Amino acid sequence: MQNTTPSVYRFTYQDIHRTVRSIAERMRAEGWMPDLIVAIGSGGFIPARMLRTFVDRPILAVGIAYYDEHDRPTDNPRTVQWIEEAERKLGGKRILLVDEVDDSRSTLAYCVRELLRHAPAEVAVAVLHDKRKPKREELPEAVRHYWKGLEIEDHWVKYPWDAPDIDEHDALARTS
Ligand code: G4P
Ligand code: MG
Repeated sequence: MQNTTPSVYRFTYQDIHRTVRSIAERMRAEGWMPDLIVAIGSGGFIPARMLRTFVDRPILAVGIAYYDEHDRPTDNPRTVQWIEEAERKLGGKRILLVDEVDDSRSTLAYCVRELLRHAPAEVAVAVLHDKRKPKREELPEAVRHYWKGLEIEDHWVKYPWDAPDIDEHDALARTS
């Protein structure tokens, strides 16, 4: 990661691994452990898997879309793939919801609300990067734990998993 505030952030897999570890360490220091990790796809998948190296719990995946059934864009998130057997798996459990970036907060707020419908013991949130900006939505008050890896300015983040050429991405992350 670069030192100055850039107009684009580039993070390497190494950066992200370290960020995930720092989240896990703070979680552990607070004595909080989830029963289940819920990853928001697709950006939350790789961070959730990295987290499992430190927090060895099962991962469930959910997918969210911003288009309707006619492929028209929508302003609000919509579930496209949700946990099967959700009622059975989530009831009474401590759930950690994982995503890569907290941007508008709409997706996170939507997912927390959906999870809360299944009577979990608790829903906590972990994100790699929280953009410093006015959010479209707030998280429900039931969320008592929110771990962010880094707070960043409101610039676009280039994640390594989006890079067509990972070596070029890493080189630019080192020099820019
Ligand atoms: P939030 O509630 O978690 O804040 O997310 P929000 O709905 O505002 O974000 C909409 C989509 O835009 C999400 O992707 C999110 O990951 C992506 N996004 C927002 N800011 C950035 C950024 O700086 N860099 C990148 N690479 N993505 C960003 P999505 O539609 O869920 O798709 P996916 O990429 O996770 O599959
Ligand atoms: Mg995402």
